Amino acid sequence: MSYIIKTKSEIKKMRISGKLAAEVLEMIEQHLKPNISTEDINQICHDYIVHQKKATSACLGYHGFPKSICTSVNDVVCHGIPSKKKILKEGDIINIDITIIKDCYYGDTSKMFLIGKTSILSKRLCKIAQESLYLSLKLVKPGMNLYKIGETIQKHVEKNNFSVVREYCGHGIGRRFHEEPHILHYKNKENNMILKKGMIFTIEPMINAGNPQVRCMKDGWTVKTKDRSLSAQYEHTILVTEHGCDILTWRKDEKISQKLFNKNEI
Ligand code: MF3
Ligand code: CO
Ligand code: CO
Repeated sequence: MSYIIKTKSEIKKMRISGKLAAEVLEMIEQHLKPNISTEDINQICHDYIVHQKKATSACLGYHGFPKSICTSVNDVVCHGIPSKKKILKEGDIINIDITIIKDCYYGDTSKMFLIGKTSILSKRLCKIAQESLYLSLKLVKPGMNLYKIGETIQKHVEKNNFSVVREYCGHGIGRRFHEEPHILHYKNKENNMILKKGMIFTIEPMINAGNPQVRCMKDGWTVKTKDRSLSAQYEHTILVTEHGCDILTWRKDEKISQKLFNKNEI
């Protein structure tokens, strides 16, 4: 499991991949208005990744995934397939998940976009999902036990009467899309690795407004909430540093620092 701790040169490449994935999310914001199709969003992101950034989409062809990004609208939890038929409308919430490969290394990140005027519930769901990610990021540092991440996310989400999806988790990332360790978004003491400087992984909680159960659709990819309630997700790729973590996929629109220093006792 030597690949779990990244070397200096790997970290340098992962910083570039992370920044690039974040820039796709920064770029796409201006295009997200009612009447755009998720296929058009896919095309704009694809062209930007390939032509402007000279990188590759990690999603396209991944276990047969047919598009370059995931677009998950309203009750879609994750892995929504961009389509000409799916047109955004005022009040929708959409998660756009970007994973790119640059110089053999992966960067993986997602955020929610709110289309026009949205409901109070939609806004609150997205806010709590992002806060749960941020609270967990603020804890990360060498010596911390991995299960604390899930514990923190679950506490914040359930305190606000939402639920955490159990079926999908964060993951180590590097020269491969999904590596060890698994990062659960709920408390499980068996998820108990001690974090070390140089680890790189994602945290990507999926939060439902109703029950936590999900269903995969017949297309083999699209995952929806079983009760058709709204779902929200935010994802970052992070590097464990000496005193905290660096958010490799940090964007300019974020109100959290790119470099977090955690001075608390473990
Ligand atoms: N980006 C997702 C993740 O965070 C995985 C998407 S796989 C795809 O791990 F094939 F659906 F693109
Ligand atoms: Co991921
Ligand atoms: Co992702």
